[in-house]
Amino acid sequence: MSLLSGKKILVGISAGIAAYKTPILVRLLVKAGAEVKVVMTPSAKDFVTPLTLSTVSKNEVFSTFTKEENENAIWNNHVELALWADFFIIAPATTNTLSKMANGICDNLLLATYLSAKCPVYYAPAMDLDMYKHLATQVTFNKLASFQTIQIPAGYGELASGLVGEGRMAEPEEIVAFVEKDVLKNLPLRNKKVLITAGPTYEAIDPVRFIGNHSSGKMGFEIAQVAANLGAEVILISGPTHLTTSNNQIKYISVTSAQQMYDVCHEYFNAMDIAILSAAVADYRPKNAATQKIKKATATLHIDLEPTKDILASLGVIKKNQILVGFALETENEIENAKNKLKKKNLNLIVLNSLNDKGAGFKSETNKVTIIDQKGGLKEFDLKTKTEVAKDLLNEIILLIHE
Ligand code: CTP
Repeated sequence: MSLLSGKKILVGISAGIAAYKTPILVRLLVKAGAEVKVVMTPSAKDFVTPLTLSTVSKNEVFSTFTKEENENAIWNNHVELALWADFFIIAPATTNTLSKMANGICDNLLLATYLSAKCPVYYAPAMDLDMYKHLATQVTFNKLASFQTIQIPAGYGELASGLVGEGRMAEPEEIVAFVEKDVLKNLPLRNKKVLITAGPTYEAIDPVRFIGNHSSGKMGFEIAQVAANLGAEVILISGPTHLTTSNNQIKYISVTSAQQMYDVCHEYFNAMDIAILSAAVADYRPKNAATQKIKKATATLHIDLEPTKDILASLGVIKKNQILVGFALETENEIENAKNKLKKKNLNLIVLNSLNDKGAGFKSETNKVTIIDQKGGLKEFDLKTKTEVAKDLLNEIILLIHE
């Protein structure tokens, strides 16, 4: 999954020959998980059809201030369109459109939308090399830079005129990669490595039976997803679960037992900036797992259990500058017990789930948590979806980073 997943992207097309590549650009953005709308200048329609763009974007395409429907003129609201967008990518951006943007001219819907945009605006220039090099164009570029309008550099190559030089619109793949990289640059967890544990662990009794628990892994997977969306490089270590992840910022490592989870956590922890341990690790495991399936030969069966290693506590012992976060599930003296656990395991934050709260816990889609810090500071959150809980937790971690 891309950082652009779930984002609303407005693609602005002006009248350059490179407009023929824009259906591919739209397609790539849709494939990255973005919702895409297109606004084009009236002349851009000579190079690419609105029908093509509408088909690939799965949305209506806008090019005029009004549309005629049942003999009534309906206003295409440029302000609404601009405010809808998380990102505005103008590609191809011709000299004509760019110089109008730089001078606040507003004689078509694309330009009106540009002037109304509050989101980051990117443009991919496309023009012949002499136009590209002309001082007027360079002045335009500088002016646009002073408006924080971001240039996606033009490429070098053969141009429509037959000349070879600078001015070719960046390829659609390059445009998407540029925007993704730029988005990442501004994210609060960029360059941060985050280790997350999730799910249950299974402790073998014999080759076919195990001791496990009902943890779905959902909380940990949501934390991983949100952390990746905030720019982090994530290592997600999970016990058995039906959940999957396909985010290229998340390295997924599947484990079965507490010992395997312990080993993988220790392999990666030193290189981490943050570790969030949300897994429901088994506290005990069979002392001697049978190598053959246990037969029902006796009236009763005793299995000796021994404690597993406490992964969280062991990381608390070796931690240097990492922010270490644990979870606690308590049924009585919740705050007191959670605070003790935070101290005992040398944590920076502890997330308290209370079993007394309806809708919180293992299999539910929601959770209700209280986050406690080392100074005893306590934040109680409402019942929320696990995605929202993950966002709250990562916000608290970001605040800690900036403390
Ligand atoms: N944890 C862990 N390794 C274990 C057991 C727990 O890393 N072997 C982590 C969990 O991922 C979670 C926290 O410790 O972050 C939860 O611990 P919890 O089970 O609530 O408490 P315990 O430390 O096991 O103590 P108790 O059972 O007495 O409450």
